Amino acid sequence: MSKRIAIFASGGGSNAEKIIQYFEDRDDVEIALILTNRSKAGVLEHAKHYHIPARVINKEFLSDEEKMMTYLVSHEIDLIVLAGFLLLIPDYLVQKFRSRILNIHPSLLPKYGGEGMYGKHVHNAVYAAGEEKSGMTIHLVNEKYDDGRILFQEEVDVSACNGPDDVAAAVLRLEHKYYPRVIDNYLQRLD
Ligand code: GRF
Repeated sequence: MSKRIAIFASGGGSNAEKIIQYFEDRDDVEIALILTNRSKAGVLEHAKHYHIPARVINKEFLSDEEKMMTYLVSHEIDLIVLAGFLLLIPDYLVQKFRSRILNIHPSLLPKYGGEGMYGKHVHNAVYAAGEEKSGMTIHLVNEKYDDGRILFQEEVDVSACNGPDDVAAAVLRLEHKYYPRVIDNYLQRLD
């Protein structure tokens, strides 16, 4: 039986695309579903291109345990991968998918994490603080923002960056390189 992943994303979906491409030729892992809360999210284009079922959901649907669980169970989802998903994962989902939800955060957590710290807010803060290094963190999801057990971190020197956009680009390169393989390693440990 292949392991089935649902990717949740709110934005452009460049991480989602890297993950899709990484597992494309694998028989043992399938990107089974893409969920987004934004009808104009770029990730929907990737879903179309790679023929992956996709759905736009709102906060109410996400909070509705019965509807969400029926939906995820009907797609036989083993692992949820958050890739730039901006809504807080409700407690019931954390409990039902305990240790089966991964997130990527574009800083070296616990620095520059928590509510409101996402996307360019992170890189603006890192740059404004004059940090010499930044990086990314892949962690399990618990009931709080950016707080679950850290699985993997990698840092990058940003001392020569000329602005937050440069920091973002350097961090995104790391995300693309490592997120798919960390997911892969983690999946091998799931039963
Ligand atoms: C990434 O930096 C990710 O770490 C953050 O949101 C960004 C998503 O980028 N949570 P993309 O949509 O994958 O291009």
